[in-house]
Amino acid sequence: MKSLSFLLIAGVFLITGTEAVAQNKYIGAKMCGMCHRTDKQGKQFDIWKASKHAKTFDVLSSPKAAEIAKAKGIANAAEAKECLECHVTVSDAKLMDKSFDMKEGIQCEACHGAGSAYKTITLMKDHAKAVAAGMSDFSVKGAAEKRCKTCHNEKSPTFKGFEFDKMWAKIEHKVPKAG
Ligand code: HEC
Ligand code: HEC
Ligand code: HEC
Ligand code: HEC
Repeated sequence: MKSLSFLLIAGVFLITGTEAVAQNKYIGAKMCGMCHRTDKQGKQFDIWKASKHAKTFDVLSSPKAAEIAKAKGIANAAEAKECLECHVTVSDAKLMDKSFDMKEGIQCEACHGAGSAYKTITLMKDHAKAVAAGMSDFSVKGAAEKRCKTCHNEKSPTFKGFEFDKMWAKIEHKVPKAG
């Protein structure tokens, strides 16, 4: 009996825990960039802004996108769920904070997780607490590659394969070691 009630309590805790994370909102790259843009921090914002990920929404209005869409019977790629699912961070307005702009493409939170709960300086400096508040845990082996492959896969109409090491090298960003 004792272990059963423990399981029940643990179950309830798990469910509410997951819900809290699921309801976090996307705040947008500009908000993350307020802290993540100096040399000392590692210029993650500038690196991202110069990458193709910052233009994945724009690319849906290109002639090539129109061609792909037409072949699939889609009128407008930039409004189609079938394209937005991999070309923007989130398209559900309920999950967007006021500061979030869908047009900014694949932003920080597409990989790191919706940031409304972990963005505070106290949580950001504590890996375990940030992860508990919804930040992706890329210290887990293979987790980063798995996240990339939620979009970089054969469901993409233009997919030609994905090699993690090569692709990560093109967008690599980190926090410089102190000193
Ligand atoms: C108020 C300033 C601030 C904001 C806003 C902020 N961060 Fe941070 N972040 C930090 C600081 C400080 C660290 C600690 C690392 C360091 O010393 O540079 C950090 C660390 C991180 C880390 C490494 C954490 C770890 O333990 O592995 C990631 C990833 C990260 N931030 C992503 C983001 C993302 C994504 C956003 C936007 C949703 C964001 N941050 C918003 C200040 C901030
Ligand atoms: C499963 C995720 C996914 C879906 C769904 C998706 N894309 Fe993409 N798209 C990608 C990725 C990832 C790339 C980068 C190249 C690659 O690996 O395919 C890309 C690249 C592109 C490019 C640039 C290609 C180039 O070579 O310049 C265009 C244009 C494009 N997609 C249009 C579309 C359109 C239109 C739709 C909807 C019919 C769509 N995509 C649906 C993930 C996706
Ligand atoms: C396409 C996915 C992706 C995007 C977009 C992205 N990141 Fe990251 N980021 C990662 C991955 C994966 C790692 C972990 C790499 C590792 O551990 O080797 C990382 C690492 C970090 C780190 C920690 C580096 C360290 O040395 O511990 C910070 C801080 C960070 N990202 C901030 C940002 C910010 C801010 C943005 C947006 C301006 C952003 N990232 C955009 C995937 C992404
Ligand atoms: C939410 C969807 C999504 C995720 C997650 C994602 N990407 Fe992408 N990525 C795209 C799309 C869409 C493009 C196409 C941009 C274009 O061609 O204009 C792209 C393009 C790129 C490019 C540019 C390709 C080139 O040939 O220059 C690189 C590099 C890249 N992604 C690396 C990564 C890595 C590494 C990860 C994981 C750490 C990752 N991506 C995660 C959607 C995603």
